[in-house]
Amino acid sequence: MESKVANLPDRSVRYLESGSGRAVLLLHAFPLSADQWLPQLYRLPPGWRAIAPDLRGFRGAGPAFEEPGLDVASMETHAADLLALLTHLGIERAVVAGLSMGGYIAFALLRASPARIAGLVLANTRATPDSAEGLAARDTMIALAGREGAAGVAHAMIEKLLGPTTLREQPDLATAVRELIERNSVPGLVSAIRAMKRRPDSTPLLPAVGCPTLIVSGEEDALIPGADIDAMSHMIPGATPIVIPRAGHLTNLEAPGLFNDALTGFLKRYGQVPA
Ligand code: MLT
Repeated sequence: MESKVANLPDRSVRYLESGSGRAVLLLHAFPLSADQWLPQLYRLPPGWRAIAPDLRGFRGAGPAFEEPGLDVASMETHAADLLALLTHLGIERAVVAGLSMGGYIAFALLRASPARIAGLVLANTRATPDSAEGLAARDTMIALAGREGAAGVAHAMIEKLLGPTTLREQPDLATAVRELIERNSVPGLVSAIRAMKRRPDSTPLLPAVGCPTLIVSGEEDALIPGADIDAMSHMIPGATPIVIPRAGHLTNLEAPGLFNDALTGFLKRYGQVPA
């Protein structure tokens, strides 16, 4: 696994890369960073090249890490960033795996450039926009980030991101996730919250998804209700749903073995399909 930097016309982006062959683009959740995918990067099946970028505004606080355009960034901005990164890396088509906010961005990629998506892994995410209650909670989180910084966001979110089983049995993981969150800047966090708040309803896209799709959920996910995941699964033609037991929202970190089995099985199955 290597940590690299791509110098794009408007910004530099750090990404983690492992393997070679067909591309899998791994899109992290809010409020983490590419490091969220470390347990997957080492364990992809042969013939696959994983690319896990930091999304715009994530990882690194302070003037050295300031990013342009954070005040107006949307899911479409993130999708355009990723298409530019793929082009820079010479990748025409990729399997896109997004967890939570990463999934919201996968939908924006589907809107922008479906031909470049060879397959989809939608983990702990939903197609619907925020409810009125959800929108109000976003404003509370923006105020909290302004008042208490990334540490305040980490404190408020840790018990929602991780399931009760993980909190009980893997205290070190809770510490590691907190540290990842605290490495982010307040402008980056606020930008992402605003972008999530403004995201459109992606439900109308679902019946037209034409690529193989795996849908992963966590039995103990407190952020994305199982009913939302079920509704999404039923609307995507041929989607394969899998529920990871004893895991909350961050399934790939909480149960890396089961998550990797599901991802590897999916990639092996669809590795047979011509690129
Ligand atoms: C995420 O995990 O990316 C976020 O919690 C998603 C959200 O807040 O809607």
